[in-house]
Amino acid sequence: CGIVGYIGTQAATDILLAGLEKLEYRGYDSAGIATVWEGEVNCVRAKGKLHNLRSKLEQIETPAQIGIGHTRWATHGKPEEYNAHPHMDTAKRVAVVQNGIIENYRDLREELKGKGHKFVSETDTEVIPHLIAEFLKNLPPSSSSSPFLEAIRQAVNHLHGAFAIAVISADYPDELIVVRQQAPLVIGFGQGEFFCASDTPAIVAYTRAVLPLENGEIARLTPLGVEIYNFAGDRLKKQPRLLNFNPAMVEKQGFKHFMLKEIHEQPGVVRASLEAYFNPGESTESPINLGLPADLYTDLEQIQIVACGTSWHAALIGKYLLEQLAGISTQVHYASEYRYAPSPVTANTLIIGVTQSGETADTLAALTMEKERRQGKEAKYQARLLGITNRPESSLGHLVPHIISTLAGIEIGVAATKTFTAQLMAFYALALDLAARRQTVSKDILEKIINGLRQIPKEIEATLETQERLTEQLAHEFAETQDFIFVGRGINFPIALEGALKLKEISYIHAEGYPAGEMKHGPIALLDAKVPVVAIAIPGSVYEKVISNAQEAKARDSRLIGVTPVNDGEAAEIFNDLLPVSHVEELLSPILTVVPLQLLAYHIAARRGLDVDQPRNLAKSVTVE
Ligand code: G6P
Repeated sequence: CGIVGYIGTQAATDILLAGLEKLEYRGYDSAGIATVWEGEVNCVRAKGKLHNLRSKLEQIETPAQIGIGHTRWATHGKPEEYNAHPHMDTAKRVAVVQNGIIENYRDLREELKGKGHKFVSETDTEVIPHLIAEFLKNLPPSSSSSPFLEAIRQAVNHLHGAFAIAVISADYPDELIVVRQQAPLVIGFGQGEFFCASDTPAIVAYTRAVLPLENGEIARLTPLGVEIYNFAGDRLKKQPRLLNFNPAMVEKQGFKHFMLKEIHEQPGVVRASLEAYFNPGESTESPINLGLPADLYTDLEQIQIVACGTSWHAALIGKYLLEQLAGISTQVHYASEYRYAPSPVTANTLIIGVTQSGETADTLAALTMEKERRQGKEAKYQARLLGITNRPESSLGHLVPHIISTLAGIEIGVAATKTFTAQLMAFYALALDLAARRQTVSKDILEKIINGLRQIPKEIEATLETQERLTEQLAHEFAETQDFIFVGRGINFPIALEGALKLKEISYIHAEGYPAGEMKHGPIALLDAKVPVVAIAIPGSVYEKVISNAQEAKARDSRLIGVTPVNDGEAAEIFNDLLPVSHVEELLSPILTVVPLQLLAYHIAARRGLDVDQPRNLAKSVTVE
């Protein structure tokens, strides 16, 4: 979900709507805003996407200069208007927007009902304005310089869970109060105006001076400034910092969709990663510099990786690289599973969390559990936590001692593309750095791989050029297709999974990825003329095997689509359609083979007239477990 808030001298509604537009990728089941004007809270909400809210607001003009807004990804309660945020207390004096989950909301609701509070939604959020109203009512007169702040402080001390909230009240028209407890929230400082948001794109158009709140902090925004407190009520001293952000990154720049723009940005992402990671710095041991302390690597025995979705696929390629290049046994876990069945911990186990947003609740929960169980042990245990993220300023950045920043720039399309490529680059760098330090590959081979990587940006450019047209043409033919199978082996098996995930996410076509050799052990029963098979066949250790697995599919009448090098005679004969990529080393091929699969998914979804950037039921960062 997305939160935005404003207090200042301009019309709040316009600023809130513009902010929500930039946050819509975080959830878009429903949206709403509340402002305070002439002693009343005006709350307008609408089911569905933001334009529904916008049209409702066109009929209402309010010059209010304070307000909060929200765009929702449903957790508790259906995506209906009555469940949309902001939520209010019975007297409609307090309005709240929330991200996250209030775990004890049922108990609180029963308690508040007993005190005469009336509830109108199915959400967990609704208890918050009621609880605040209850504390406001019971506050002794003049007990605090800001009764509103005091009531909110008392209320949040009764909430369990992970949440970020923003609150306004008709009775305190000069105060916007925000709270962070394990869900992101950032404050923006303008000239006589202040902002809050769950993510920076909502406010960068107005200010670059930002202060991300830490867990357990409350901020009081007034037209005069910002005060920060902890949950005990002590005032904290904090300074905003300047954000390095180019607003053009959140514009489409002539592309029809953000996803297409982001697919085309991948050569630049690889270039930026090469420049940042592949220089030796002061080290004589390794040609790679990830800014990690050398002792993080000493005596490393095994690696456990936790991640979700596309990041989990990047981690599978990471495993391949770490094991095959650096010789370190590596396991990849779904973050949502690891928490309840963790591997035995040893001092020489490195745990890596991969999350582009740095906010995925499942991944953060797995890492928090890991951090806790390492506490009290010797320093080595505690130091061996590493995050790979596109948002180093995120919650992940606060949680783990070491970070590799991926260099994709902000990604708006909900289906990850360039952040995946950036994660792959981080894994190549990490595996090669480890291989150099552990001397598991010779200097010559290392050099050869790095030189190969340096060629990748122009190879992606060439691939994009030929594939754009080919995938668009091919997409016409799959407008009615209901099932797709993707197969690959070795380092390209995770790319088969990623190709299938991209198609599922944005075109709603059922798709499965399999290791090509596994198809004959079950999935082959699904095949017939109506089920196309996409095979990734790159010359190297598994090429012949993939080709013969593909032939088995063809013998069952499946239409065969090959992601394979250009001018490959043998392949051309077997496949019905070709999505050719440049000739590259098998080890480096995933960065190339994923591109036509991203484009294929994109064009099929666009052809079907679907909302490519904001597919149904998904959200960019899922901040609930
Ligand atoms: C959501 C998105 C997926 C994404 C996953 C992990 O479910 O819809 O596209 O891969 O989260 O996100 P992360 O930010 O942790 O990489």
